[in-house]
Amino acid sequence: METHLFFAIFCAWICLSVPLEFCIAADSIRMDQSISHGETLVSSGQSFELGFFSPGSSKNRYLGIWYKNTPQTVVWVANRNNPIADSYGVLTIINNGALVLLNQSKSVIWSPNLSRVPENPVARLLETGNLVLRDSSNESSESYIWQSFDDPSDTMLPRMKVGWNLKTGLQQKLTSWRSADDPSLGDFSYRIDINVLPYVVLGVGSSKKVRSGPWNGLEFNGVLVLDYLVYKAVFVNNDDEFGPTKER
Ligand SMILES: *[C@@H]1O[C@H](CO)[C@@H](O)[C@H](O)[C@H]1NC(C)=O
Ligand SMILES: *[C@@H]1O[C@H](CO)[C@@H](O)[C@H](O)[C@H]1NC(C)=O
Ligand SMILES: *[C@@H]1O[C@H](CO)[C@@H](O)[C@H](O)[C@H]1NC(C)=O
Repeated sequence: METHLFFAIFCAWICLSVPLEFCIAADSIRMDQSISHGETLVSSGQSFELGFFSPGSSKNRYLGIWYKNTPQTVVWVANRNNPIADSYGVLTIINNGALVLLNQSKSVIWSPNLSRVPENPVARLLETGNLVLRDSSNESSESYIWQSFDDPSDTMLPRMKVGWNLKTGLQQKLTSWRSADDPSLGDFSYRIDINVLPYVVLGVGSSKKVRSGPWNGLEFNGVLVLDYLVYKAVFVNNDDEFGPTKER
């Protein structure tokens, strides 16, 4: 009992005497800071965690985001098609502002395309499960330089969109894992095709397995299941974006 009390006081003393970020798991990294094997970022409300993991029986390492309470539920994977074979992967922001995942020999394993060069960049894991790269001076979502929600894996989280960013021409779609041990791009995708009229498509590779009726301006005819039990599916159609999203 006394040992516990002593330990608690000791911890409190440590917490008060060092900067806060060393006591509370950080949710962000800045230029020249990094996350390596065994280290994680935790979102401010403790919902999501980002770090390295090996799925199932695989020995490969991937950078991913999972629910902090249920780490086996991985919601996003960065280097899906480019695993790291050992435990020496590092996520860092290098001096040109790029967010990069490096292997032991400092080769770039994964790095997202940025919409512009950031000044004083910060990568933060938000409480929504979104990993965003932005200028540290501007928290506005309008000014994100990159966000993981624009590059979904196989999981749709609230506020994530499946569709098109018409400003950047970027398609946001869900793609299945190849297997429980292998998050590389699988055969199934959930996407919106907008070649002629927009359709919701559940596809295998480039072919279509299930397709909704066309978008008639209000809804998809014969619509595919977009409503989830606890979430409201919302369809966005404006000058910037096109596609379903989810709101709590
Ligand atoms: C790092 O990645 C490069 C390029 O994929 C590869 O040639 C090299 O062998 C890798 N290094 C290690 C230590 O895995
Ligand atoms: C970055 O852009 C290039 C060219 O458009 C594309 O080939 C590549 O797949 C993109 N990389 C990522 C990580 O999205
Ligand atoms: C943040 O970025 C947005 C969009 O780019 C811009 O409208 C806003 O003025 C910026 N805010 C600051 C404080 O710079």
